[in-house]
Amino acid sequence: MLAETAVVRIAVLISGSGSNLQAIIDAKAANLIPAELALVLSNEPQAYGLTRAQQAGIETQVLDHRDYPNREAYDAALKHALAHHEIDFVVLAGFMRILSQEFVQAYAGRMLNIHPSLLPKYPGLHTHRRAIESGDTVHGATVHFVTSDLDMGPPVIQGKLAIEPGESEQSLSKRVLESIEHQIYPVAVKWLAEGRITSEDGQAFFDREPLPPGGIKWEA
Ligand code: GAR
Repeated sequence: MLAETAVVRIAVLISGSGSNLQAIIDAKAANLIPAELALVLSNEPQAYGLTRAQQAGIETQVLDHRDYPNREAYDAALKHALAHHEIDFVVLAGFMRILSQEFVQAYAGRMLNIHPSLLPKYPGLHTHRRAIESGDTVHGATVHFVTSDLDMGPPVIQGKLAIEPGESEQSLSKRVLESIEHQIYPVAVKWLAEGRITSEDGQAFFDREPLPPGGIKWEA
C-alpha cells in the first residue's frame, strides 16, 4: 500500500475581478502547482472571481464584511472559515481589506500578497497613477509574504517594465497586470506549495538562502 501524502491546501482571497486568481487556476490546470485550490473566498458578494472559481469547480464562500461589527469580528470569521477548510496557505489576490495583526500572525510565513508596484515604492492605492505622476520610468509588481506592515512584507519575486512616454494610468495598470502579475504570481504560488519559499523574522528565503531586497528579479 502506498503511504498517503497530504495535499497542500490553498485558499485564494479576492474582492474583485480575480484575474490573478484565473492565472493561478490556469497554472494549476496545467499541473504546475502541486496543491489543491481548496477555497476561493470573497468579501464582496458580486466579485467576478467567484464565477471564475465556480467555473473551475473550486469551492467558494462569501464573507461580506458589512455583516460584521468590526475588523476583529470579521477576521475571526475568516480564520474560522480557513480552519474549517483545513487551509495551509493563503494567497491574497486583490483582497482589498486590511488584515488584523492577530490574523496576520496566525498565517505568518504562510500568506502571500501581490501588489502592483516595485515595493518598497508605493504601498497602498493608486500605485500606477503615483508612478506616472512621480515621473518614474519603470514600474511593476511584487509578490511578498504578508506581515502586519501593509504591503511591506519580505518580497519573493518582482517584475518590472518600462513606462511609455505619455502612458495613461489605465494602460499601465493593464500592462502590469497582464505581463507581470499574471506571470509572477503563479510562479510564487508554485514555490509556496513546493515549500521552496519561506519567511522568518521579516526575511524571505528561497531554498533556505536569504533573498535579496526586492526578491527574485523577473524579466518580462
Ligand atoms: C491587482 O492589480 C493586484 O495587484 C491589486 O489588485 C488587483 C486585483 O486584480 N492588489 C492590491 O492593490 C493589493 N494592495 P484581480 O482581481 O484582477 O486579480
